[in-house]
Amino acid sequence: MTTPRWDPAQYLRHAGHRARPFADLLARIPALPGDRPRIADLGCGPGNVTALLAGRWPTARITGYDNSPEMLDKAHVDHEGPTAGGRLDFAHADLRTWAPTEPYDLIVSNATLQWVPGHADRFPDWIAALTPGGTLAFQVPDNIDAPLHALMRDLAATPRWRDRLAGVLRRTDSVATPGAYLDLLTRLGCTADVWQTTYFHVLGGEDPVLDWVKGTGLRPALTALADDPRARDAFLTEYRDLLREAYPSAPYGTVLPFRRLFAVAVKGA
Ligand SMILES: C[S@@+](CC[C@H](N)C(=O)[O-])C[C@H]1O[C@@H](n2cnc3c(N)ncnc32)[C@H](O)[C@@H]1O
Repeated sequence: MTTPRWDPAQYLRHAGHRARPFADLLARIPALPGDRPRIADLGCGPGNVTALLAGRWPTARITGYDNSPEMLDKAHVDHEGPTAGGRLDFAHADLRTWAPTEPYDLIVSNATLQWVPGHADRFPDWIAALTPGGTLAFQVPDNIDAPLHALMRDLAATPRWRDRLAGVLRRTDSVATPGAYLDLLTRLGCTADVWQTTYFHVLGGEDPVLDWVKGTGLRPALTALADDPRARDAFLTEYRDLLREAYPSAPYGTVLPFRRLFAVAVKGA
C-alpha cells in the first residue's frame, strides 16, 4: 500500500456522517479509572473527534497521535489547548511502532487501524500500558468487499491502470474478523465487547460516494497519481461512472451502506 497523503478539508466534507460511529463507540466506553484520566487517540486526523473526548472527560489530559503532517496541522490549529479542567494536544507518531511511554486510562482509535498493517500485534503493548480497569476501544470500517472498494480494486487491476496502481490500494485483509478481535482481546486479559453496525448514510450532492471516498479509501491511488493530473482525472472519471451505477441516486439522496466493526476491551482491575 502506498502511504497516503491526506487532505483534511476533503476528509471533513462528511464530518457529520463520519463522527457518528465515534459517538456510538464512546457510548459503550465505561467510566475510566481516576479523576483526571490520561487518554490517547490513535490516528486522530484533524482532531474533531478527539475534541469529543474532552467533552466526555473534561478533566482529562488527551493526546491525539497521527503521522500525517497535514492532519496534525489542522488539529493543532482547530483544537489544541486547555479544556474545562484538562488539556488537549497533538503529536506525531507512527502507530506501526508507537509504544506508550506512560500509563493510559483510555487508548481509543477511530477509523484508523485499517491503515496500520499488523495493528493487532501492537495490542499487547497497548494493553500493558493501560491502568487497571482502563480501556482500549476502536472502530474500523469493515466494508472492504463493498462495491466502492471492489470497483476501485477491479479498475486499478485493469491493463490501463495496473502498472501505475498495482499494490497501491489498502489490502483486503487489513481488518480482522470480529471473532478474531474478540478472541485476541480476551486472551490479553480484557473483558471485550465486539460488534458490527451497518449505517445507511444518505448523502447529498452530485457523485457523493466519489466525494466521500476521495477523503479516505481513494487516498493511496490519488497519492500514487498525484504527479500526473491527467491520469488522475481519467481514473476518477472511470471510477465515478462505476460508482454512479452501483450507488444510484434516489429523490432523497444517494444511499451509502457502510458496515463498521467496534471493539471495547476493558483491562482487568
Ligand atoms: C480516516 S482518518 C481518521 C481520523 C480520525 N480518527 C477520525 O475519526 O476522524 C485515518 C487517520 O489515520 C492516520 N494514520 C494512518 N496510518 C497511520 C500510522 N501508521 N500512524 C499514525 N497515524 C496513521 C491518518 O494520517 C489519518 O489521519
